[in-house]
Amino acid sequence: MKTLAFNNGDQLPIIGLGTWKSKPGQVYQAVLWALEAGYRHIDCAAIYNNQSEVGQAFTKAFSDGIVRREELFVTSKLWNSNHRLEDVEVGLKETLRDLRLDYLDLYLIHWPVSFKKGVEFAQNREEYYTYQDVPLEQTWEGMEACFANGLTKHIGVSNFNSSKLNEILKTCKVAPEMNQVEMHPFLPQDTLVKFCKEHGMLMTAYSPLGSGDRSSSIKKADEPSLLQHALIQELASKYACSAAQLLIAYHVARGIAVIPKSINQERIHENLAAGAIVIEANDMETLKNIDTKYRFIDGTFYTGPRSPYSLEDLWEKE
Ligand code: A2P
Repeated sequence: MKTLAFNNGDQLPIIGLGTWKSKPGQVYQAVLWALEAGYRHIDCAAIYNNQSEVGQAFTKAFSDGIVRREELFVTSKLWNSNHRLEDVEVGLKETLRDLRLDYLDLYLIHWPVSFKKGVEFAQNREEYYTYQDVPLEQTWEGMEACFANGLTKHIGVSNFNSSKLNEILKTCKVAPEMNQVEMHPFLPQDTLVKFCKEHGMLMTAYSPLGSGDRSSSIKKADEPSLLQHALIQELASKYACSAAQLLIAYHVARGIAVIPKSINQERIHENLAAGAIVIEANDMETLKNIDTKYRFIDGTFYTGPRSPYSLEDLWEKE
């Protein structure tokens, strides 16, 4: 399996298992199947509300000798309600308890959006903090403290655009090492990829298959389909692989980590096997010029009259 190197030489397996939307009752088996199949990178988050089942799978895999802790790369993410300096470590320690680990490999700020303590998803203005209330630099200071005390080997962010990253880069002691964002041929994120590369940051692509299993509340009826797009299907048949495998191999070709979610044993295997597919440069160029541009996780759930945030706060201007 191809890996990406952090600045200190630590290696990140380029394909990981995503666990967003994997329900308790499904995720334990999915993680075990993935570890048995050879996955060594598992992507988690507190808000996925399934970390204790993921932790049970890790414990089982360690005790059965499927994998050793030091061979496994585990990422998790700080939820929006733990952004104050004093709450960051609390959030990470809860995650470690749920995952039954004593350290993470990578901890990310999940969103550049802040909720009051105890709020799972802010519904009105009073449940949000603004950037004035809790500056991102404050949350980052908390992340640096977690790094310094060994609770996580690497720290980074998710859903950050270059201007938010610049805010952190201006004051940080330890620079973010990862930016995890939505990425696929409909949303290639060229500007952000260039920025992250220039600043020595790795990237991870989430929703690489379009996350078709999202709840209807965050899904539009007329969304385009990545898996059914004619060009993607055409290239998949050229490489004798599935559309999903082509979409995964696209990130491998760009040197970007990718975390397809699956709870199905066959698809878990299929997705890992995509690491062996090498897409030729001219086909990458064809994918670059694909006719559809689309963001599936559009962030509108953080905006509107009952929120202090707007979409301009979130996304890169392309
Ligand atoms: P399932 O979990 O039943 O396999 P994303 O990673 O973009 O969030 O997409 C996840 C969605 O894609 C889930 O509905 C998942 O279903 C499905 N999926 C995962 N792997 C494949 C695959 N190889 N082929 C088709 N669909 C897949």
